[in-house]
Amino acid sequence: MIGNHDSGARNATARTAALQLDDAERFQLLFPRWEIVRYLNSRVPWPYPADGSINFIRAVALPAIEKGDWWHWTLRLKIDVNLVIGSISLSTGESNNRGFWIGEKWQRQGLMTEAVHVVTDYWFNVLGKPVLRVPKAIPNTSSRRISEKQGMRVIAVEDRDYVGGRFPTEIREITRDEWNARIERGNLMPKPSGPDIPRTRP
Ligand SMILES: CC(C)(COP(=O)(O)OP(=O)(O)OC[C@H]1O[C@@H](n2cnc3c(N)ncnc32)[C@H](O)[C@@H]1OP(=O)(O)O)[C@@H](O)C(=O)NCCC(=O)NCCS
Repeated sequence: MIGNHDSGARNATARTAALQLDDAERFQLLFPRWEIVRYLNSRVPWPYPADGSINFIRAVALPAIEKGDWWHWTLRLKIDVNLVIGSISLSTGESNNRGFWIGEKWQRQGLMTEAVHVVTDYWFNVLGKPVLRVPKAIPNTSSRRISEKQGMRVIAVEDRDYVGGRFPTEIREITRDEWNARIERGNLMPKPSGPDIPRTRP
């Protein structure tokens, strides 16, 4: 599993650990912010209830993980591994295979770019999936940029509903062959200097 993975990348500080019920309190503190939720799927309740995170983890995330439809990690800093700063997940389905958010204080430091690299490689080279697709609200510049940097192609544009309203949305995809070719060419992320990512399922 990726749990407790140290990305080892240059400037960075990202680690991941498997989602647990205990993470609910921290999620509840960081997640219910307009800047975080506005481009998330309209299924996210807003205003966010006081028990939103515990309900989400208990009733949605953990059962889906148990079923093998979802893989979900918390994001932490190397310098403080106990402090959850965000979340990243992978899921089966036609066009929404990856999701993420990070607390405002830790944004714009390259941390999500790092975490996305690690879980994308996991999707292709541990789970063995042939293609990864994601929807991105077009106004969500930073999230689109992450996919763009990974070489994900736009395959469709359609309107979708988000917490902040209905927005034009790009559906992007990358195949396993395309991903691994980019890795081979070495034009993605610096090779981790920390421990290797274990190649086993969670
Ligand atoms: C999207 C999100 C996860 C990005 O996390 P992050 O750690 O700030 O991302 P990074 O620092 O790795 O930056 C990724 C790229 O976006 C750019 N970027 C970050 N914030 C930006 C902003 N507000 N405006 C424009 N570009 C931005 C960065 O410069 C970087 O591009 P670069 O490498 O070309 O410089 C974070 O903004 C977030 O949690 N947003 C709310 C939740 C969300 O929308 N999730 C995605 C749903 S699809």
